[in-house]
Amino acid sequence: MPFNPELCRNESEVESKLIVQYLLPQLGYTPDTWHQEVAVGSIRLDFLAFAAQVIPFVLDANSPLSVVMEAKHPKHNLNNHVSRLRHYLTSLNVRYGLLTNGKEIRIYEKLQYDIQLVFQCAGKDVEAKIEEISSLIDRESLKARQSVEKSEIEISETKSSSESKRQNSMKVIAVYHNKGGVGKTTTVVNLAAALRKKGKRVLVIDLDSQANTTFATGLVKFDDEEFDDIKGSNILHILQSEDFYPIEEVARKSQFTDPEISVVPSHISLMNYENELIQQEDSKMMLAQKLNEVSEKYDVVLIDTPPSLNLYARIALITADYLIIPSDLKPFANQGLINVKDFIKKINGFRKQIRKPQLEILGVLACKISTNNQFVKHTLPKRLEAIPKRYGFEVMDSVIYDRDDLAKCAEKFLIVGDMEVADPISVLDFKPDSTAAQEFELLALEVLQKIGLA
Ligand SMILES: Nc1ncnc2c1ncn2[C@@H]1O[C@H](COP(=O)(O)OP(=O)(O)O)[C@@H](O)[C@H]1O
Ligand SMILES: [Mg+2]
Repeated sequence: MPFNPELCRNESEVESKLIVQYLLPQLGYTPDTWHQEVAVGSIRLDFLAFAAQVIPFVLDANSPLSVVMEAKHPKHNLNNHVSRLRHYLTSLNVRYGLLTNGKEIRIYEKLQYDIQLVFQCAGKDVEAKIEEISSLIDRESLKARQSVEKSEIEISETKSSSESKRQNSMKVIAVYHNKGGVGKTTTVVNLAAALRKKGKRVLVIDLDSQANTTFATGLVKFDDEEFDDIKGSNILHILQSEDFYPIEEVARKSQFTDPEISVVPSHISLMNYENELIQQEDSKMMLAQKLNEVSEKYDVVLIDTPPSLNLYARIALITADYLIIPSDLKPFANQGLINVKDFIKKINGFRKQIRKPQLEILGVLACKISTNNQFVKHTLPKRLEAIPKRYGFEVMDSVIYDRDDLAKCAEKFLIVGDMEVADPISVLDFKPDSTAAQEFELLALEVLQKIGLA
């Protein structure tokens, strides 16, 4: 009798009979090349199968071609699971996804930020169609394709090394929302660490007079203003002077993450100079000009901003190529998005005058999100959906949940003699295996993909 997956009665039979006993072996996956119940950050995959054997497995731009398989209950309509699969494939950089409820089998292929249906058949036809399925996602053909693609990449790299260098030029990302406490600073420092650990050369710039990023990157090592070594050289000096204070002189090495990162610190005195700087015509462009001089030294520049619509926020958005808008998705933050939108419009007007391309918005990043099960299941999807509908902003795929580790790593301190010295570190250095760390790794992957550095 031919194998008929339409007889599977529930989700676990779809998993065991159709996927484990039939599809995986038919497609050439041995038990050491597939994994069940894989957790990556906030994502839980039913099955992940690899073209090559990799232990431990890593999902990044260079990861071997792989396939996600998701099993659903026979009564579930697959249409309702496509957007989730899209999220998995695009944020994990996985090429193929198989979705099945036993009655129907679909295969999707990842495009840059979307997925497309490349195969579909009824469950009862699976044996008749197995060759077609194989040609898309069996282990041998994926492996073969991987080596072809790799050599194509190598050829194109040698052909156009000067071109690819230009493509890889420094990308500047501002992290902004006019409301405070939504996770801007937390995003900047931990995303910076995650990008650094992926081999990118990262520069962090603190443009907020509250200097929280300066503190969070461990640059405030004094507990008495008499020993303040930041006052004399910080972001203010970069903005004030055309001829002096280049970025490289003001930036400091910070060990809040390993490998270390350069950080341009801020200082509370920034507040007192806003009016003076507004009078100074060229101050708005100064940061962008000075960054040009170091464009060969960094891959990504992250700018932290004040929770306001002031000059420093304006400078950040004039200087940046891209914008991330962290938000806790609560009512005040949402209402603030209207201001953010107006603000971006004004900035883009100015950018047009100076012939700079429009600011590219990477999206609203959900931050400090409650991990309560009911909330995540029912309320969060509605809140995420409301953002594009009501405010016209895209939502990023990554979600940063409310995690104690994120607050703890920022509050670490050292005892030196009889003194308490702040010693904050990134969550990736504090607890590399924590869910919070994984969420920032996924965010880093998403950002790299979206800015073309993946
Ligand atoms: N995802 C999170 N989980 C737990 N605590 C968080 C998270 N994000 C931010 N926090 C905490 O919330 C407070 C405000 O966050 P912060 O990043 O400084 O916001 P902003 O820069 O927008 O004002 C800080 O005390 C920070 O430690
Ligand atoms: Mg902040």
